[in-house]
Parts: sequence; structure tokens; C-alpha cells
Amino acid sequence: MTIEFPPSMQRRRLLTHGGAAIAASSVLPWMRHARAASETAVTFKLRPASAKAAILGEAKPKTDVLAYNGTVSGPVVTTHQGEPFSSLVTNGIGQNTTVHWHGIRLPNAMDGVPYLTQPPIRPGADFHYAFTPPDAGTFWYHPHEHTAHQMGRGLAGALIVKEPEPPPFDRDLLWVLQDWAFQPNDQFVPGFDTPMEAAMSGRIGSVVTINGMVPKPITLRAGERLRIRLVNACLARFMALRFPGHRVTIIALDGQPCHPFAPSNGRVIIAPAQRVDLQLDTIGEPGRDHPVIDDYYGRHATYRLVTLSYTRQPPKFRSLPAMPIILPPNPVPKPDLSNPVRHHLTIVGGMMSMGMAVDGKPAPVWGITDGHRKSDGMEPIFSIPRGRTVLLTLENHTSFWHPMHLHGYSYTVLSRNDVKEPYPHLRDTVIVGPKEIVDIAFVANNPGNWMFHCHVIEHQSSGLMTVINVA
Ligand code: C2O
Ligand code: CU
Ligand code: CU
Repeated sequence: MTIEFPPSMQRRRLLTHGGAAIAASSVLPWMRHARAASETAVTFKLRPASAKAAILGEAKPKTDVLAYNGTVSGPVVTTHQGEPFSSLVTNGIGQNTTVHWHGIRLPNAMDGVPYLTQPPIRPGADFHYAFTPPDAGTFWYHPHEHTAHQMGRGLAGALIVKEPEPPPFDRDLLWVLQDWAFQPNDQFVPGFDTPMEAAMSGRIGSVVTINGMVPKPITLRAGERLRIRLVNACLARFMALRFPGHRVTIIALDGQPCHPFAPSNGRVIIAPAQRVDLQLDTIGEPGRDHPVIDDYYGRHATYRLVTLSYTRQPPKFRSLPAMPIILPPNPVPKPDLSNPVRHHLTIVGGMMSMGMAVDGKPAPVWGITDGHRKSDGMEPIFSIPRGRTVLLTLENHTSFWHPMHLHGYSYTVLSRNDVKEPYPHLRDTVIVGPKEIVDIAFVANNPGNWMFHCHVIEHQSSGLMTVINVA
């Protein structure tokens, strides 16, 4: 049996932190009841199922998709830092599924990896996820079973964990970025997860959407300070977004606040699964339009993602402070680099290793090795004693870019090719470029078996994944 409370009863403001003791004595009986029940109450229901979505806009025929609660992208799940959250997921598709809460440092059993942290959710069955997000920031959720098929057809949504005190932005915008490969009949190109897509850069669609729709112009007012939360929910597409005409500052990466910095060359790089929180100061003139440009794949593949269009209203504020807003840090433990446990993993494979035949067709082989053996995907490649700092070197022997994602942790990116990162920052997904070597570190404080994989989904499903154990 499940009980749903009206949103007002789920609000932490009533029973805010630091106030636990006070709350216990001052809450009304019904509030106390709500609080006790909130540990197990279902606060968010998610049902993946077939649906039709107007991805190409209202004027075009709808596309057959898989959708959470009928919408692409999925419903925006909003929760509060340090507050218990739970979700009942009911599988409405004809295939096993799970939900993975990407980037949340949660208990292993809630991580949503089939056969590793839970049995898959069978068609018609459900699973109850419950955790308390320790970090405020921009996260997302997606299936972790048949991911290329399910995410590729629309199953992905944003998970926003709010700070206890809302930072003083004039507006908070969310852009879930997805791309799609369409046939002329306005349906998806079938055959997700093909060997050809896997061997190359994965499926990169030609239609890019914001929050599930081909973007219409977005209206801004001059003289405002916006937070834009970017979520790259594409299977494989990298982006380099430019915002000419505005002042843009990166304030968080993968949900974790960073030392604010201006994107280098004005390009905001965002790989599959990564998130970037921007502060965008609308310093343009009233009545003007400005494009947002993605030029990641070079001049010939450059396109206009969306138009930011200023109203004629006079600037809300005559001048905006030069100092960016600094988000409060999350309680991620700092690595102790004086005596770390060291490990080295190498990414291998790609086009050159096509050769293993599957049904007479060549199959791409990607892999992760520790120098002795190649990971089989689900067996831990190494184990770390709990509490120790791990210094993990990632070496890319291939000629492709791999956004490498570790579940259950936010890690510090230390260096690239032995050059220290200019801004120490936390990530859960780091780009490792062709032939690049990236050092990351984290305190292994969250026990369990944690997936570590490339988030180009076709690479992941053809071998670019392993498991790291924290004992
Ligand atoms: Cu977005 Cu294995 O995760
Ligand atoms: Cu993840
Ligand atoms: Cu990859």
C-alpha cells in the first residue's frame, strides 16, 4: 500500500533542518505523522510507457516514444538537499528496466543497475527507490537496462536537488538537451545500438531538442541574472555552446558547485551525461535577438540551438554585479593525496578492433583493462578499502572521446596529461580525449559495487564498462 501526501506536507520548510529537535516539540500531530511517514511515503511516481510526443513541434505529426509519465523529457523531479526522497517506479513497457539517479551519492542498493544493485524491474512490476540526496545541484535520471533503446527513445529526465536557501538568481531555467535521428516519416530511425554506431561515436541525431521539443525562441529580459541548468541527456552527442551577447560564467559542473569561471574561448563543453550550471547575465539590449550556437563538431556541423530573444522592457537592473553568485559547497569529502591507493585503468578498442564476428557481422570491441586483464563488465576490476583516498589514472588508448562516469561518487579531476587542471573541480563524468591521461581522486566512503563506464551509451553496451568495489 502506498500513501501520497499533498506537496505541502512534503515540504521541509515546515520541519526544516537544524530544527529537528524544535520540530519534534512544536509540530502539530498531523505534521508529526507526516514526518514519520515521509521515510516511506511515495513522493514521486514514475511510470515508463509508450507514448506519443510532439518532439518536432505542434505542427508536425507526433513521434512514438518511450516516456516517463507520458512526457519527453521526463517530469522534472525536484527535491531538497538532505531531505528523504522516494520514488515508486512502475514498469509500463514490454521490457525490463530500472531507474538510475545519475550523480547522486546514494546507497548502492538504490543505484538502479540491474543484476548489480537490484534485479531488473520486469514488465508490470515496480520498484521503490528511496534515498536522501546529500548534495544540492543538477542531476538526472534514466534507465540502466537496454539503455540505448530506452533512453534513445525518450526515457530521461532532470532531477533537481534544491539548496536549503535558494541562491539569488532572477530566474532558474532548465535545459534538458537531447538529440534524435529521424526518418522522413517523423519516427525515429530504428535499430538502436547497432555495431556500426557502437564502433564509431555512437548515435548522433540531427534534431536537437530542449526539454523534449525543437526549441522556440526563449524570452529574456535585459538586466537579469539567470541560472541555466544544462543536462546533456543525449546518447552520444557532445556539445560546445556559445552564448554571444551575454556574460556567461560556469558555476557548477555535474551538480557540484565550482570556483566560478568563464568558459574558455566562450565555449561551454558538455559531454553526454554531464551537467553544467551557468550564470547568464543578460547584458544585451532590449528588443534584440541572440543565437545560442553549438560548434562542437566544427564549422560544417555548426548550428543554432535556440534564439534568446530580449523583450523591449527596460533592463530589470541597470547594472549587474561583476562578482558571480557562489553556490554553497556540498559536503563531498576532500581526497587525502598524501597516501592514496593508486589504480590505473586503460580504455582500449574501437574501430580497429572490429573483427570479432557476431552473427557473421563484425562487432566492435571496447574495453577497460587494468594492464593484466580486461574487465568483463560486471566483476569488480579492483576493490578499495572503505575510507581510503583513491588516485585513479585513466588512460585512453583509442582515438575517440569517452565521457567516463563513476556511479555513487563525485570525484576531483586532478590533471590531464600531467598538467594540473586550472580549476580543481568535482565531476561524476569526465571527458578523456584520444590518447589522453586523466587523473582523478576520491574518498571511497560509499560502500558497494559501483559502475564505471563510458556514457556514450553504445560504447558502454559494447564493453566500455567495469565495476569498482568499495569494501
Ligand atoms: Cu548515467 Cu551508469 O549512468
Ligand atoms: Cu550514474
Ligand atoms: Cu566512449
